[in-house]
Amino acid sequence: MSTLWIGTSWKMTKTLAEARAWATGLRDHLGDTAGGGTASDSAGDTASDGARGATAPSGVQPFVIPSFTATTTVSEVLGEDSPVLLGVQNAHWEDAGAWTGEVSVPQAKDAGAQIVEIGHSERREHFGETVETTRRKVAAALRHGLTPLLCIGESAEVKERGGSSAFILEQAAGALQGLDAGELARVVIAYEPIWAIGEAGRPATAEELVAPFAALGAAYSGKVSGLLYGGSVNLDNAADLLGIEHVSGLFVGRTAWRLEGYLELLRIAEAHAAGRRT
Ligand code: PGA
Repeated sequence: MSTLWIGTSWKMTKTLAEARAWATGLRDHLGDTAGGGTASDSAGDTASDGARGATAPSGVQPFVIPSFTATTTVSEVLGEDSPVLLGVQNAHWEDAGAWTGEVSVPQAKDAGAQIVEIGHSERREHFGETVETTRRKVAAALRHGLTPLLCIGESAEVKERGGSSAFILEQAAGALQGLDAGELARVVIAYEPIWAIGEAGRPATAEELVAPFAALGAAYSGKVSGLLYGGSVNLDNAADLLGIEHVSGLFVGRTAWRLEGYLELLRIAEAHAAGRRT
């Protein structure tokens, strides 16, 4: 039975103080105090002290993807041995060079990242991300030993035409083109329909997601590390979404930006994982 990935991208939110508070709260929740630390001495923690005793909820792989500015802060707070994986929201396909404003995968790795989010619909819409750039970025992440978190999703227009599954399969195939089985096994795919994302989106019903996940499952189940759902995930729909066949996690924006929301999602996932084991 595969692990349930439960993660959040903070998008363009949070100051360093807010990032530190969220990460400290998560670290403490996951059992840091078992190592003898307390919230009051967290400022003096070393990286390895920070993670001492922390464990992920059973059957759950937590991850957090802050803004670039908060990567190091969150990394230091969580600590080296943290069960929480850390990511960045984008990275360039080249390792270094004259690419003003960009961050490379080796730089992200140096700052503590283990995951690179690639191809979120906001980046495709506003920053010219294409199937070709997602392909190059997936390759760069794999080259440096990071997990590519490939986001795919169709617009409302494509959905209305009945083309959702074909569209997302094409996005995925383009980005994952040329990978061998071992490389593919290190990829996580997040299906995030554009019409379901953010304030302008509406939550998808579980019924609407059955067909796209059947298509993704047929192509990628057992071949990638995870098939996640994202888009207006909230505390009311999370359990139903996890119940859809082939869904092995949730990628969450707004609901998880408050730590309490994220912790509740972890609890929902842990209960779901326990239910699947019985
Ligand atoms: P949301 O964002 O949960 O706020 O809808 C989801 C996403 O863009 O990943």
